[in-house]
Amino acid sequence: MEKTRTDRVIKSGDVNALFALGDADMADVNALIRDRMQSDVAVIPALADHLIAAGGKRLRPLLCVAAARLCETTNDNHHKLAAAVEFIHTATLLHDDVVDSSQLRRGKVAAHLIWGAPSSVLVGDYLFARAFELMVDTDSIEALGILSRASGVIAEGEVLQLTRAYDAALPESVYIEIISAKTAALFAAASESGAVGAKASRAQQAALKTYGHALGLAFQIQDDVLDYGSTAEALGKNAGDDFAEGKATLPLILGIAATGDTEAAFWERTIGKRTQAEGDFERARQLIIDSGAMAQAVEKAKAYASEAKSALSIFPDSDWKTALEALADYSVSRTK
Ligand code: IPE
Ligand code: IPE
Ligand code: MG
Ligand code: MG
Repeated sequence: MEKTRTDRVIKSGDVNALFALGDADMADVNALIRDRMQSDVAVIPALADHLIAAGGKRLRPLLCVAAARLCETTNDNHHKLAAAVEFIHTATLLHDDVVDSSQLRRGKVAAHLIWGAPSSVLVGDYLFARAFELMVDTDSIEALGILSRASGVIAEGEVLQLTRAYDAALPESVYIEIISAKTAALFAAASESGAVGAKASRAQQAALKTYGHALGLAFQIQDDVLDYGSTAEALGKNAGDDFAEGKATLPLILGIAATGDTEAAFWERTIGKRTQAEGDFERARQLIIDSGAMAQAVEKAKAYASEAKSALSIFPDSDWKTALEALADYSVSRTK
């Protein structure tokens, strides 16, 4: 006999269980993504497919699906909303790699290096437009509102980050403001819109919004930790980019705070004055690790992951709840 979803045994902390649980829904979501990225203008599907076929973790659409399932949805709004969420994410990645001059994405050469920055930006715009069509195709004007607002907030976060680059004295509060906007907003919207599309109660919608926001903060802090602690082979994108771009992320902010007395000149030259030489990244990395800043950043990420899990307390125990708790742990233990 075929096993139903609730028959599956989910081990606490096992994020693969969430992926397994979401398999059937994600097959539908991926089919929608393939269908809606098409265009008669050949460069559009070619460029989009370069990024989409490279995979990616598909975390945000899975989050939307899981939120709807946790709320025991009886409709299929979550498929269109999840596909829209991944389109929004993919569009921001296309734009972000141009903005950050990144060379590598999902283990492949960044699209702008193949097709040029103008095509990359315009295909990003096309994907945004397709995302909005998908949202309109649901019967939830409220979910459309949530994801539309999030799209604006992401752009605000990216621009804010741009204007605060090369600031060796960036306050931690501004860093949190930046990552709340550029990353947590979409995690929160994916989760909340899943609940809204499922016609969940207001309390459930609010809990899932809180969960997604805290999860997004944990996820981005871990991403910023990996930028100092991992490799291109593991990440599928280059490590060290944040330092090279003078981005004050949490490991750097805490590293500067911990070593400011003795290393002020080094930080001022490499970040403030934008003058980096060979070996500087290695030295920054070592200072961040040796001063305990890296460990501190990981602790802060874990605190947000734990906040995310607490937000789920209003839901009765279920496989989907356990899976979402595992996702929070995964977001801070992940290596890619
Ligand atoms: C990358 O997100 C952008 C960040 C917010 C750090 P992901 O790490 O989810 O990227 P993919 O979709 O798996 O490639
Ligand atoms: C990714 O941000 C794009 C958004 C969150 C909108 P980053 O620039 O911090 O992430 P990577 O390292 O390129 O994936
Ligand atoms: Mg980037
Ligand atoms: Mg960026």
